[in-house]
Amino acid sequence: MTDDERRLLANLTDCIEAVAEGRPAVPMPEASIGDPALDGLARAVRHLLSNFEALRLFSISLANGRIDAEAPPKLHLLDPLKSLQASLKHLTWQTQEVAAGNLDHRVDFLGEFSTAFNQMVTALKDKRRAEHEAMQAARLASIGQLAAGIAHEINTPAQYVGDNLRYVEDVLPPLLDAVRGIAPLPAGEADLLAEDLPAAIKEALEGVARISKIVQSMKEFSLPGTTEMTTTDLNKALESTLTVCQNELKTAAQVEKRFDPDLPCVVCHASEVNQVFLNLILNAAQAIQSSGKPLPGRILVETLREAGFAVVRVSDSGAGVPMALRERIFDPFFTTKPVGQGTGQGLAICRDVIEVKHKGGIEVGGSEGEGAVFTVRLPIGGA
Ligand SMILES: Nc1ncnc2c1ncn2[C@@H]1O[C@H](COP(=O)(O)OP(=O)(O)OP(=O)(O)O)[C@@H](O)[C@H]1O
Ligand SMILES: [Mg+2]
Repeated sequence: MTDDERRLLANLTDCIEAVAEGRPAVPMPEASIGDPALDGLARAVRHLLSNFEALRLFSISLANGRIDAEAPPKLHLLDPLKSLQASLKHLTWQTQEVAAGNLDHRVDFLGEFSTAFNQMVTALKDKRRAEHEAMQAARLASIGQLAAGIAHEINTPAQYVGDNLRYVEDVLPPLLDAVRGIAPLPAGEADLLAEDLPAAIKEALEGVARISKIVQSMKEFSLPGTTEMTTTDLNKALESTLTVCQNELKTAAQVEKRFDPDLPCVVCHASEVNQVFLNLILNAAQAIQSSGKPLPGRILVETLREAGFAVVRVSDSGAGVPMALRERIFDPFFTTKPVGQGTGQGLAICRDVIEVKHKGGIEVGGSEGEGAVFTVRLPIGGA
């Protein structure tokens, strides 16, 4: 054996040992020594070294977080690392989706890591749900308290204005007779007074009756503090809701009511169901206003019975809900309204109240351009 051959063999042995022990290998000289068998062996070891180096560099890239690193082609040795790379890429995408608020993602690879990831997403979802419920409860409670407080404040003066007006109404005819006797009025004036004064009082009494009706509706609408399910007349609940939002509807739409007079009462959380009706009716009014169509538009509120369900349907003449958005509109915080005008919580609350709390259903229909139809189904016997 020549010295060159001996050096080459020693070199080859070092390289193979280095690879076997996982150390960086000493570079192998390229020069041929003229022995075909040894030159062939040297070529094979150089190839082994270059693959080993590619594996090392690719692993370093992944370890440093460069998950887009290009893997050397046709190297099956790298297949497990490439599949780890694909999992990491997928996981990155999933994490970005979760960060964007889509909490329905789950992963089923990477073993224990995926279990931890899924636990994190579930915990985030639970937390978001709890926050959402707390916010909803706070929103309902504050609206309820406010409405009950205002209703009480208005009710008391409205009552004594009414009582006093009725008193004046009663004493007016004898008073007019007495006045006629004491100081005769110019011709015709007494008759005019006898006609106008009772009419004025009647009108004032009607005004007071309307105030009382609105106040009563506010009380019925808000029902603060009721956490139990109660037997509720949905037709009456819708009347109250329409009365409390009358002002919002005035310019937007004419409201048509088609209530089934035989609709059975429903066992439900009345104040939350009222909130659902309010959300749907206000959405309808807002959709009409933003549709660009001539005002006032039309809102139809219907009730009907369908098997074991009471059905409430709110249809409007706005622009309708585009097909592509029909699922997303129920997502919490999804809104197409400008900042400050919509929080995107209305329909999320509706879905939660109707589907989760009452085991009913809510869906959107109607045709694009012609208006939306929201249908709510509540089980008559309660959830
Ligand atoms: N009747 C409707 N016609 C057309 N689009 C509607 C109608 N109701 C709801 N939408 C669409 O669904 C989106 C979500 O409605 P949602 O009630 O959840 O939130 P919002 O009305 O935008 O805000 P918020 O109710 O919290 O004030 C709206 O922004 C709108 O794009
Ligand atoms: Mg809304």
